[in-house]
Amino acid sequence: MLGRLNHVAIAVPDLEAGVASYRNVLGAKVSAPQALPEHGVTVVFVELENTKIELLEPLGEGSPIAAFLERNASGGVHHVCYEVEDIIAARDQLKAAGARVLGDGEPKIGAHGKPVLFLHPKDFQGTLVELEQR
Ligand code: CO
Repeated sequence: MLGRLNHVAIAVPDLEAGVASYRNVLGAKVSAPQALPEHGVTVVFVELENTKIELLEPLGEGSPIAAFLERNASGGVHHVCYEVEDIIAARDQLKAAGARVLGDGEPKIGAHGKPVLFLHPKDFQGTLVELEQR
């Protein structure tokens, strides 16, 4: 079911500082910030040779990463994103296996303009898993 690792997401309290770390200190190529109100975050992508790092900053009230940043004030690894061929087929297969899909279970359009879903961390070794259709 799983394809490539699309990205690892790191929640940050200050996106500008996160961008400066990756761009200026680590010398990486970092995209322009993208506000995703539907997901309650602003994101940038750090482009690596084999995958990406997504830096996430809360956007608006009730951001889904607000509680995470309360527990991890300096930021931390928030989720991993795997690519799948067919997100509906993957969802149905996972649900049949007893995994919990977050939200209403319907894919939303993610930062790359492709459908995404999130899976409950308790079903995957304490790690929030995002699936993105290839
Ligand atoms: Co993500």
